[in-house]
Amino acid sequence: MTVVISDYAGAMDALRQRDLRQSLYDEGAVIMSRVLVNLHGEEHRQRRLVESQVFRRDFFRYYETEVFPRTLEECLSPYLATGRLDLVEFGYRVLVNLTADFTGIDRPANSTDATETLMAMLRLFSRTAILAHSTVDRDAIRREALDALDTFETDFVKPSIAHRTMLLHDLDNGRLMEGDLPRDILMVLLRKRSELDLPDDVLTREMAFFALAGAHTSIHTLTHAVHEIFQWATDPAALVDDPLLLQRCVLESIRLHPSSPIAARRSLCPVALDTVSIDEGERVEISLEMANRDERVFGTDAASFNPQRDLGKGISPYGLSFGMGMHACLGLNLAAGTLPRDDTDPAQHHYGTVTLIIRELLAHGLHPDPKRPPAKDPTTARDLWGTYPTLLDAP
Ligand code: HEM
Repeated sequence: MTVVISDYAGAMDALRQRDLRQSLYDEGAVIMSRVLVNLHGEEHRQRRLVESQVFRRDFFRYYETEVFPRTLEECLSPYLATGRLDLVEFGYRVLVNLTADFTGIDRPANSTDATETLMAMLRLFSRTAILAHSTVDRDAIRREALDALDTFETDFVKPSIAHRTMLLHDLDNGRLMEGDLPRDILMVLLRKRSELDLPDDVLTREMAFFALAGAHTSIHTLTHAVHEIFQWATDPAALVDDPLLLQRCVLESIRLHPSSPIAARRSLCPVALDTVSIDEGERVEISLEMANRDERVFGTDAASFNPQRDLGKGISPYGLSFGMGMHACLGLNLAAGTLPRDDTDPAQHHYGTVTLIIRELLAHGLHPDPKRPPAKDPTTARDLWGTYPTLLDAP
């Protein structure tokens, strides 16, 4: 039996329970077995502690001012030349590159081929991870994903490990300083490998998972947010000069369209929540999508897009879309930035990658292509855009 929880307070209560363990990815185990989001208890705590080191406060400033602008410019320039851009395809291109940087997947400099290969792999991994929602042959997808994982290990993970092992050797010999090492997940994992149980296959899947967690979520957030902005704003380009409002638009869209519409758990023992009791071994489905539209929390217009809505004390504008409790999203600040305060200086604010990408696109006149309407992805029951044609201002 499955217990379904769809109210905001109940969802928060369930997500915080330590006796409920992850079960969302049971069908996608070929990709998701023993990766962070699937671990529980002490093994999860230890690995999360190590990986969190990459996302310290100073990392975001370094990332938004140094890594991000370069990658965005490189990815955007071919589209500026043609004046056409499919948001889903562009999202993959830019976010695959950004995510590979902090995951620690090396690519030859400016290699379009490596980007294309990684994009294809990521599409496949993401279809496998969310296999429970697939509308096509699941075994065929699993077989394809296993083959792709082999290639991912040989072509990307092993060379990246060899490169970092050499750097660590140079550090030991005094030829490099701590600050010369890349700041990425693979690097921190290799340095703690003897303390964490990380055989090669687990390390490869962890790399694939991080690439997926970082890219796939933000790609679909980008497309949903742009769509909402096109529907809501009379003059979308005006948001370029009001980035705090633009960030609120992105957060409001994340509330309405959480990357994962549900979280799922299985109980390790009988659990008494405030409103429901769960038996040992029972599955619990927490609807983030419905909790985020709870009218008692977000008001009578909870189901509509209103980035200027008043929020109650302690209620985040993105609702529960980044989860809560032990599996709360590690990339929240990276994707969504920090929440502004009354005295926030817009020039110094940390906006998150999705807002910054949309701002850049709007600054280049992004608007829907009137001749080619967008379409949802038919291969999954999830609410994802499969294609979203847009036009940019003529160069
Ligand atoms: C709009 C963008 C994103 C959304 C909506 C999102 C959403 C989520 C959610 C709902 C969870 C919790 C899953 C659960 O409770 O079962 C989660 C976990 C996680 N997310 Fe994100 N995420 C986003 C971006 C990112 C980015 C950019 C990264 C890159 C580092 C990332 C890394 C992770 C990791 C590593 C976990 C697992 C944490 C753990 O199990 O301890 N996410 N995310």
